[in-house]
Parts: sequence; C-alpha cells; structure tokens
Amino acid sequence: MLPPATLIVRRATLATCDGAVNDAALRSGQAVAVVGGRVAWIGPDEGVASAVEVAGAREIDAAGRLVTPGLVDCHTHLLFGDDGARAAEFAALAGGRSYEEISRTGGGIRATMRATRAASDAELLRSARVRARRLLSWGVTTLEVKSGYGESAEEELRLLRTVRELARSVSGEQDVIATALPLHAVPTGRSREEWLREVVEVLLPRVAAERLATGCDAFVATTAFSLEEARRVLLAARALGLHVRLHADQLAADGAARLAAEIGAASADHLEHVDDAGIAEMARAGVVAGLLPTSTLLLRGSSFAPGRRLADAGVPLALASNLNPGSSMSENLGLALSLAVLQCRVTPGEALWALTRGGARALRLPEAGRLFAGGPADLVVWGARTPEHLAWHAGANHVRCVLKGGRVVHEADEPAACDCVG
Ligand code: NIG
Repeated sequence: MLPPATLIVRRATLATCDGAVNDAALRSGQAVAVVGGRVAWIGPDEGVASAVEVAGAREIDAAGRLVTPGLVDCHTHLLFGDDGARAAEFAALAGGRSYEEISRTGGGIRATMRATRAASDAELLRSARVRARRLLSWGVTTLEVKSGYGESAEEELRLLRTVRELARSVSGEQDVIATALPLHAVPTGRSREEWLREVVEVLLPRVAAERLATGCDAFVATTAFSLEEARRVLLAARALGLHVRLHADQLAADGAARLAAEIGAASADHLEHVDDAGIAEMARAGVVAGLLPTSTLLLRGSSFAPGRRLADAGVPLALASNLNPGSSMSENLGLALSLAVLQCRVTPGEALWALTRGGARALRLPEAGRLFAGGPADLVVWGARTPEHLAWHAGANHVRCVLKGGRVVHEADEPAACDCVG
C-alpha cells in the first residue's frame, strides 16, 4: 500500500535548497508529493506513481517552472505605529539629509517609538497583518518580527505580546518568529545605563519566562549602542536561552561582525561596511550573514554588503526584506533579490538559497527553508523558469501560488505571475 498523496506538484524545476551551503540545488523534471502537511517524496516525474498513491491527489503542473521552499524572511521590524513622520523623513533623506543626522535630532527610530506608543494593540496588529499578508504574496511562509520600538520594558513586552497575537492570527499561513530588540535606540528621556539595566534585569528575564521571543538582537552603531553594551545585553540574553543576533557594521565598520563571531551569534545582519577580519571570523564561527540590500538602496547609501566576498569565504548567506519604516519600507523581495545579485554580487541561485535555507539558519529553524522528504510542505510555485529570471525581471512578483503545510494559502492573479511564456 502506497501512502495516499493529497497534492502532487509535477514537471518542476526544483530548488530544494537542501544541499551544500549557499547552493539552491536545482534539478529539472522533478515532482513533489505531499501527504497531509508534509513532503512525502521528491524525485523525477516518472517515479511519482510508484512512490505514492496518486489517485485523488490535487495536481499542480509547474510546466517546467521553478518550485522552491517557502521563503523565510529572517529580518523584519514590521510591527510599528505610523503617524506619517517617517514618510516625511524619507523625503528629507531624498533631499540629502543622512539617516544618522535624522536620528541625532530625535527622529528615526525614536520617532517610530512615539508613534508606536500612541497606537493601540489592535491598530498595531491590524497593520502588521497587512504587511505579513503582503510578504505572503511574495512567497514568505516564515517570517521573523522584531520588537525594538518600545520606550520601556513594559512597552517592549506589549510589542512582543502583539507579535504573539500576530503569530496566532496568521497561523496556518505563516510561521512568525519573534525576536526581542531592546538595543535599538536609547529611549527618549532615559540614560543609557538606566536603560541597559532595565533590559538586563527586567525585560529579558520576562521575555524568557513568558517565552515571548526565541532570539535577541542589538543594533551596534554610533547613533545606537556600543560593542561593549551589545556584548553585555546579548550575553545576558544567551544565558537565558535566547539565541543572539546583531545589526552589524551597517553605517560604519564597527567591529560588530567580530563580536557576532565571539559570542556565537546566529547571524550578523547588514554588514555594508564589514572588514576582512570580520568576514574571516564569521566564517570560522559559522555566523550567517544577513544581506539587506533594500536598506542601502532606500537610504541612498553607496555600500552594499559584500555578498561575494562573504560567500567565497564560506559564510552562509541570508537575504531579507528588513521591512521597517526607516531604512526599508518595502515588502518587495524581488527587488531585494535583484539587488543582492547586482550589488552584493551573489549568483541568483545563492540569492535563492539565502532567501530560504539561509534565513532559516539565521533563525535556527532546522526544517524551514528546504524541501526534503519528511519535511514541511511549505513551497512556492513560481511563474519564472529559473533563479536568473527572477533576478532579471527586477521587482516583479513572479509567485504563482504558495503552499503552507500542503495547503494553498495564496494564489496570484493571472497574468501577473506568469509572464514567462512558452
Ligand atoms: O535594520 N538599523 C536599525 N534598524 C533598522 C532601521 C529601523 C528604523 O529606522 O526604524 C534597520 O535598518
């Protein structure tokens, strides 16, 4: 008796992202058989009928087009209140003001902290759901959401509880992974030392006790926190069982990539200014490099993270939207992919691995972002034939349909996703 398939995807150009690091592992003429919520079998088309019972299964004919794991967006700040201030700042930025200058004069992250404080839980949840839904339309079946816009321990806890509500409300369509980001900006009216103590003594123990997050992140920059401050808080988080991550070397070479390696961080993200020593240390320690190229574009920066050098050094790559109101107000992962290829100089296949398995590794999720027999049936059927086509047709949404746990949870309107004819 063969296991009865509930769904079969046929004639796929399949990227399992389940081989070597940074390798999308592409094969043509493949089928994927799903039983319930899991992948039961993957192999050449002609073998499917001898592996599973095909009668009664829903069939999706990929017609030679790309099929990948569901995307894993491992770096977002999508829970925030919006009072219009950041849109006005964007215009100022376009006119020549820098992100750091805006931050030093009370804008930036602190402006969003004020707008977030003014927003009710219901408002925050509603806008976060809209943003998560847009990410789903880009193929994202697993996403990370950071706190970081709270002006007190209580406010950070409120945000993390709202992320938990978001996770409940999108469950079945997307998995939401919460990360505490207490070191984002020193809240207005607080001394640095006072805030650091509140984080270590009050906030983190409650995050761990209530299981509100699986990770803890810190932003190292002259306008944010020092290496020493980040080390102190992240070591406290690690002692509580949280995995740690860093916003590293975004605006200058701060040495944060080296700190990430020193403390065993799961990922160091941004890396626009990472130096050779940082890259070597990350490779040695197996820290994932989170590329966030839409931030460079939207901050009018000129330094993109050196994805090619990172990959050549053997560092696993992740690629994410960095969806946030300041440096990357965009859910467009197609644009992120094209920028990663053009400006970070990774190959389209590497970018695809980074958007799937690399993101899952940054979040320490053993099963997400790869397709393997026995694994979750989270997958995307694309209108494009190859990763090159995705990168080439920049910013277009090529998603045809998205499956979560073997169920179709998003279908694109024709013909938007299917302009690849023949
Ligand atoms: O990753 N750099 C720090 N955090 C975000 C920006 C957040 C904001 O400006 O509101 C980032 O780019």
